[in-house]
Amino acid sequence: MNPGEQKKALDAWETSARYWDKYRALIAQMFAPLTSGLVEEARIGIGQNVLDIGGGSGEPSLTISCIVGPTGSVMYTDPVAGMVETAQAEAGRRGLTNIQFRQCSGDDLPFPDKTFDLGIGRLSAMFFVDPVRAIREALRVVRNDGGVSFAVWGPKEANPFFSTVNDVFDRFVESSTEDPDAPDAFRFAAPGKLAGILENAGAKNVIERQLNFQIEAAISFDPFWQLRTEMSETLREKMAGLAPAQLPTIKQAVADAARRYFVSGKMSFPAEALIVSGKKSAV
Ligand SMILES: C[S@@+](CC[C@H](N)C(=O)[O-])C[C@H]1O[C@@H](n2cnc3c(N)ncnc32)[C@H](O)[C@@H]1O
Repeated sequence: MNPGEQKKALDAWETSARYWDKYRALIAQMFAPLTSGLVEEARIGIGQNVLDIGGGSGEPSLTISCIVGPTGSVMYTDPVAGMVETAQAEAGRRGLTNIQFRQCSGDDLPFPDKTFDLGIGRLSAMFFVDPVRAIREALRVVRNDGGVSFAVWGPKEANPFFSTVNDVFDRFVESSTEDPDAPDAFRFAAPGKLAGILENAGAKNVIERQLNFQIEAAISFDPFWQLRTEMSETLREKMAGLAPAQLPTIKQAVADAARRYFVSGKMSFPAEALIVSGKKSAV
């Protein structure tokens, strides 16, 4: 990405920050299995000092703050001011005192070597500008016996929470040609891709685990539609380019495609993620 593209990407996240805050309770619930998977895989426990890279509206920092307890600490980071503000405000509302906040990119971490026990990121590694450099940075700031773990989405076809909407929009609005290495939610969906990047960055004992879970919430189709079309920059852009008369047709086509995931007022989508971890030193 050139500097202009980087700025555009961060501006888009800045606009997204208000929606990630608006839907924070739903997001926490829907993606909780990803946090549990990361906590389990990275073996996060009482007393640890954990770095969260790309913490968005606050997860998994807020959950991990309770797990590490008063003898541990969390350093939340995100490059987007609006994300940092909303995450910090939520930590204040919850009275959490063992989290610190820093606005920075995963590609350039403003911390001394060997500061943390662990570095983790939930759904953020796919947006690193230079993933090898960012993973090297994460390894640099963890202790010699520490490690890093990242949760990323698996393939589009295994994630209808996204594809039921995106596939319909693609039928109506032309998409720009996709560069498989450009920052995108599915950049690391191919098995081995992020694991290879960890190895290139010098991580040892790299492990990739597939995590299958359900994205669940007690909501009907309409709030799902609103959440998806507000939270995604790609969909916001596509919506802006539509003629008003097209919107009801598209919404109905998505409702038809998503019908089987909404039963008795409850949403439940199957989902697939990868949790990719590595150690700083071979054990
Ligand atoms: C999909 S959100 C995930 C947020 C949060 N971790 C969660 O799971 O709810 C992706 C986050 O990555 C952040 N991000 C974008 N570029 C980044 C970079 N170069 N380094 C670190 N984080 C980045 C965005 O600002 C956004 O908050």
